[in-house]
Amino acid sequence: MTNFSNFYQQIATNRLSHWLNTLPAQLDHWQKNELHGEFKHWQKTLEALPNGQSNNVDLTTSVTVGSKGDLNPGEEKRLENLMKKFKPWRKGPYHIHGLHIDTEWRSDFKWDRLAEHIGDLSGKYVLDIGCGSGYHLWRMRGAGAKFVVGVDPTQLFLMQFNAVQHFIQDKAVNLLPLGVEQLPELKSFDTVFAMGVLYHRRSPIDFLYQLKSQLVKGGELVLETLIVDGDENTVLVPGERYAKMRNVWFLPSAKAMCAWLERCGFSNIRVVNTDITALDEQRKTEWIDTESLSDFLDPEDNSKTIEGYPAPQRAIFIANA
Ligand SMILES: C[S@@+](CC[C@H](N)C(=O)[O-])C[C@H]1O[C@@H](n2cnc3c(N)ncnc32)[C@H](O)[C@@H]1O
Repeated sequence: MTNFSNFYQQIATNRLSHWLNTLPAQLDHWQKNELHGEFKHWQKTLEALPNGQSNNVDLTTSVTVGSKGDLNPGEEKRLENLMKKFKPWRKGPYHIHGLHIDTEWRSDFKWDRLAEHIGDLSGKYVLDIGCGSGYHLWRMRGAGAKFVVGVDPTQLFLMQFNAVQHFIQDKAVNLLPLGVEQLPELKSFDTVFAMGVLYHRRSPIDFLYQLKSQLVKGGELVLETLIVDGDENTVLVPGERYAKMRNVWFLPSAKAMCAWLERCGFSNIRVVNTDITALDEQRKTEWIDTESLSDFLDPEDNSKTIEGYPAPQRAIFIANA
């Protein structure tokens, strides 16, 4: 059982209380019908983690809890072995009592690209849609957010988040196992992040409306997605695979993305960063057993994916609802 009662208690007394009309029934249904086959094993792994809650937490420059030497050598080894049961670790890195979880992605690079451009998060209610293991949730909290909610339907990522939360124990940071399409129109968040998700959606315009419906009026959207070069009418719809991924649908140009945002009623739209994904940002480490970016690119020409499309290029858009 994953216990969401702490989350319900918190939102009962904050501006998300109307979510209680639908959320408990939805998550009960999830617990009864949708648990991953490995879920029970993962829960046992979580329960076996060494105690190690620490007040020594840095969320401003990294996600670091405690330091080496906090745990005895036996506990340190147990921590590493148990954390490895949650492989593949895609988003991070995390530093837990000296253990460096060197994830496939340097998600801190993405945070560094956007941090100076977003509105001040101090005291804000923040939602991160498709948050993965929750790396950016911690950085949002480190930037001063009052209440942070991540949603992501991939259950392994919930487990990874819970494993990190086990050591940090911050009730204002939460991850719910939901897809964006399962959210009611909450109209309650000051900032909504949606990074690395749009290209996985079959209906990107509906997705933009879903994001808008989570924001307070005037609230800020921070959207990051794969783009291609071109004018406002350029959109790549790849064949069955893009960089070996099956579920990639729409890669607009930056101009086309801005036009979509405008069409959906966002204002003050700007592109604050574009970046070609480099081999030091997404790479194979001992924390994943699968392939990584170097396997997805044409070995003769790294400006192309293995299928011959333009290699991954990403842009960050900021706009107001
Ligand atoms: C490329 S990752 C991006 C993770 C993180 N936001 C980042 O930028 O590093 C895409 C994430 O979207 C999640 N996802 C897939 N379908 C989703 C849906 N329907 N609603 C919300 N998130 C979804 C996946 O589980 C995955 O964690």
